[in-house]
Amino acid sequence: MNIQKNISLKNYNTFGISVNAKRFVSIDSLYNLQQLLKKEQQLFLISGGSNMLLTKDIEKLVVHLNLKGISIDKESENTVHLTVNAGENWHEFVLWCIQEDYGGIENLSLIPGNVGTCPIQNIGAYGVEVKDTITKVEAVEINSGKLVTFSNKECEFGYRNSIFKNKVKGKYIITSVSFQLTKGTHHLNTSYGAIENELGNKKITNPSIKDISDAVIAIRKSKLPDPKEIGNSGSFFKNPVISTTLFEKLKEKYPTITSYPISEEEVKVPAGWLIEQCGFKGKRFGEYGVHEKQALVLVNYGNASGKDIYTLAQTIQKTIKETFTIDLEIEVNVI
Ligand code: EPU
Repeated sequence: MNIQKNISLKNYNTFGISVNAKRFVSIDSLYNLQQLLKKEQQLFLISGGSNMLLTKDIEKLVVHLNLKGISIDKESENTVHLTVNAGENWHEFVLWCIQEDYGGIENLSLIPGNVGTCPIQNIGAYGVEVKDTITKVEAVEINSGKLVTFSNKECEFGYRNSIFKNKVKGKYIITSVSFQLTKGTHHLNTSYGAIENELGNKKITNPSIKDISDAVIAIRKSKLPDPKEIGNSGSFFKNPVISTTLFEKLKEKYPTITSYPISEEEVKVPAGWLIEQCGFKGKRFGEYGVHEKQALVLVNYGNASGKDIYTLAQTIQKTIKETFTIDLEIEVNVI
């Protein structure tokens, strides 16, 4: 295990923020991880670095989780069970599944990050959440070094949420995720308006999982910045859930406001819309700003600091509260 000293984390987070790691180690096997945990437990974990905003130098040992490999556990005529190590890139895994004709995660194409972090925030897009395909998650307990299995139910998945963000936060390192996917006959989810439009434009009436993946890639590319070109962390805020009473009140004042139903008493409203209404969409403040095509995404044009971006996020939260009496919750981890 090669522990490096004083390295910049700029290339290890999709926001492209440069902070210093006093000590840094890349881990590529479960064995090495368990050996490391015997000596050290005060760690700062980094995987795909796609859901964090770094605002300060990291004093703890930074552990880059780089466990690779995919194995097929069992197959039947219509399903396949796979286990994927945490350090595999999510989108490359999705593309591999499409090539193998394994269905279920095609709507989640082009989401940044690694497989090991997909359960933490239960990644979701275009009507699909990853929780619907996960069978179990394996993780090492930091204190004991023991390998533990969480069943799907034990993960306590919710909207952009799981047990790993709550009860057991900071206690485990996810080492692999197991999935159940479809083979041959797939359950396609094309109900999301943007996908329907994209397929319609291409005159595709009987789409394959590849067609859906291609459509999602085209939609995402048209709205969301590529982290390789402009630093970002996808949606910076969660879509807030508000009472139907407040929604009706807002609708009188802002007739174009939209909502997704949650229950009789509550609806979810698009944070991107709220932020756009307050005039932030496309606003640039030197090295950072709000993306011009999707107001839910904050961007680093090159050399912004994490503190700059965090201050902008707080200004947005304050403005949304004053304008709509809605609390916007930050979705990324602010460090
Ligand atoms: N909208 C605006 N202005 C904007 C952005 C959006 O008015 O600047 C409106 C749109 O017109 C639309 C609604 O808001 O009516 C929803 O927009 P969109 O379909 O882009 O989805 P979203 O709710 O803003 C969520 C996820 C995305 C995911 C998309 C597609 C969250 C926090 N975000 O965004 O996830 O890709 O749906 O399913 O739930 C991510 O988590 O990093 C992410 C990108």
